Amino acid sequence: MEAPKYLWWNGERRLWSECTVHVSEIAWATVGAVFEGIRAYWNDEQEQLYVFRLEEHMQRLVRSQKLVQLPIHYSVDELIAAALDLLAANETRQDTYIFPLAYTARTSTRRFRGASDSELSMTTRPNPTHLQTGMKLSANISSWRRISEDVMPPRAKNIANYRNSMLASLEAEADGYDTTILLNRNGNVSEAPGACVVMIRDGVLITPDLTSGILESITRDALLKMARNLGIEVQERVVDRTELYLADEVFTCGTAAEISPITSVDRYQIGNGELGPITSQLEDLFVKILRGQESDYAHWRTPVPAAVTA
Ligand SMILES: Cc1ncc(COP(=O)(O)O)c(C=O)c1O
Repeated sequence: MEAPKYLWWNGERRLWSECTVHVSEIAWATVGAVFEGIRAYWNDEQEQLYVFRLEEHMQRLVRSQKLVQLPIHYSVDELIAAALDLLAANETRQDTYIFPLAYTARTSTRRFRGASDSELSMTTRPNPTHLQTGMKLSANISSWRRISEDVMPPRAKNIANYRNSMLASLEAEADGYDTTILLNRNGNVSEAPGACVVMIRDGVLITPDLTSGILESITRDALLKMARNLGIEVQERVVDRTELYLADEVFTCGTAAEISPITSVDRYQIGNGELGPITSQLEDLFVKILRGQESDYAHWRTPVPAAVTA
């Protein structure tokens, strides 16, 4: 994959090829790092790129920095402006992932106290959607438990948290599943790797509440609002493992996951094993929202201005 022309690093847009760090700095720098994952969607007819919930993502980045005590040098507005400038300068005309990363600056040694300073990079890369492609996933319930608030805060997008997701994913892959669902320390449903879990039972949309060891997901929030607006009853509550086996529909959601239908859990078939009607209804609306094809949710989209002169 060819790298884009620019990335954003420590306050300015720079040529991708010039942004390097010494190999001795990488080991410990990422342990304290926090990041965001943001998507932008291209609308071919309008010749317009839209970033989904850009402000909320940058707010969460700053909150993650606060939580792990990484010095904050940029305001939400500055980060929004940086992302828009970068996407425009890279002449982005396709679905894209935006990845801001804040990390401990120039550290070659292990450091358990607060970072003396932080740096912030932001990159973009093409990221095609899998919405409306007919994707169906099998999931197991992981033998790994989701990290809990008394160990590592699941609420922050802390790079180190993702070791937990990776171990669970490796196990699922070895056992022949596409993905996995982790229970929390209480034995209730928490999250999938990098995604929240939603199920439909008897027409009610049910998802683990925000104290179930989950990230405060922006996609989850969007889908709950959309469901309520569609007149679907929504419950945010403790969810049992066996409720998933008996659900009519299950999907995961998140920036990377978008909406990913799960059609079996621990080999229990979900519904009739096909994409369910409520998942499908939400997915159709979600696509329109992401690509700027409806007006009710325009406040969730930031249009990227036309390319600037670099
Ligand atoms: C651990 C975890 N849970 C849930 C999500 C979904 O969050 P969001 O919808 O804000 O992308 C993510 C990120 O995509 C994540 O990393």
